[in-house]
Amino acid sequence: MMSQTDNDRLCRTGPGTPMGAVFRRFWLPICTSDRVSLPGGAPRLERLLGENFVVFRNAQGEVGVLDELCPHRGASLTLGRVEDCGIRCIYHGWKIGNDGALLEIMNNPANKRPPNVRAPSFPAVEAGGIVWTYLGPQEHQPPVPNFAFMDLPENQRVLLRVDGNYNWMQSLEGGLDSSHVGILHSNAARPNWNGPSEIRVGAFEDTGPVLEVEDTEFGYHYAAFRRGAPGQPSNVRIVPFIMPSGRIIPGGALQGAGNHTIAFEIPIDDEHTATYTVRYGSAPISRESRLRETGFDDPEVYSQEQQRLLLTRANYNRQRRDIMDRNWSGLNGIAFEDTVIATSMGPIQDRTKEHLIASDLAVARLRRRLLDSAARLELGEPPIGAHADTRLISSIDAPAPQGAHWRTLVPSHRVIAAIP
Ligand code: FES
Ligand SMILES: [Fe+2]
Repeated sequence: MMSQTDNDRLCRTGPGTPMGAVFRRFWLPICTSDRVSLPGGAPRLERLLGENFVVFRNAQGEVGVLDELCPHRGASLTLGRVEDCGIRCIYHGWKIGNDGALLEIMNNPANKRPPNVRAPSFPAVEAGGIVWTYLGPQEHQPPVPNFAFMDLPENQRVLLRVDGNYNWMQSLEGGLDSSHVGILHSNAARPNWNGPSEIRVGAFEDTGPVLEVEDTEFGYHYAAFRRGAPGQPSNVRIVPFIMPSGRIIPGGALQGAGNHTIAFEIPIDDEHTATYTVRYGSAPISRESRLRETGFDDPEVYSQEQQRLLLTRANYNRQRRDIMDRNWSGLNGIAFEDTVIATSMGPIQDRTKEHLIASDLAVARLRRRLLDSAARLELGEPPIGAHADTRLISSIDAPAPQGAHWRTLVPSHRVIAAIP
């Protein structure tokens, strides 16, 4: 259970909020690269942390991120003309470079530029099929994002962006909550849950995993132990939480051994979240199989064009009660089940009314790491994970090691002894 004050501190990320300040110390995805694929193509409106931006690729191929509204008199630059090294407002023709510099002022005699005026601009880099931007103070800008999936050939990763109508903490907490996997996702994880099938998927028959958690340089990692089949060792799934809102889901029986899924929960604003997931692995992966597994191949559930869930609280009863004798949730697809749950909680979950148990250990630690980061920033210190090396962070689903600590399965994670 949380106080209302802490719930607000945790969930709200707009300008001037404590958690907004934490997010503004990290590079964040703002859109997928394919949405700005053509040099000189249409600019896009993107909302991030409650603020509006225009994202475009100039004719030279460089991606720019600027405040949405023109610094002259506030017309939307999403209407603008994209040119060789910037974007031109169609209202009075001010031309603004990717770096925010005023390049031409068409409506002034002799093109005279006002001194000291710039459009607010933000650095942009592309990696792993994602356009990343940094909204924070220049002097604290961290190195560009660097994760293992970015080094893989394109056919070995599938990127999906899914926008939903819920606060980012709802989807992030779901992603760091191992105990729901064998229950909400019974159709995939325990296909024999109602008896007829003999199929066993890993250790998910044990619906009450035991959790352990350790703080790391990048956030934390936790282990979920499940009893194995009779005569088999217990199973451990290790999932890292990467500040401020990332995680890596291990492969194994559900996703295929050798596969990982990295996910970033990015606040569009306090009541809308863009989830970027990348399934990646050592072998080619098809977009079709990924869409089928998530349940987002259903065009009434997910618009691939808009990268958006078509689900709202008004219609989340797409649940099929008529098939629930053989379908646990009455829903099809793992990620669809997750997004229905996040949507069902309402725009911002009221955590003053909840009751946590031992299985919520990783959820509780998540909140503590985030709130500690906000408190550190208020003291003038960097947030947790601000300078962590993320490239070697990994996850694993494996037999629990005998006679060794589980952290030995993820030797690249730098464990820290105590919360500073
Ligand atoms: S409002 Fe953009 S040029 Fe005038
Ligand atoms: Fe889930």
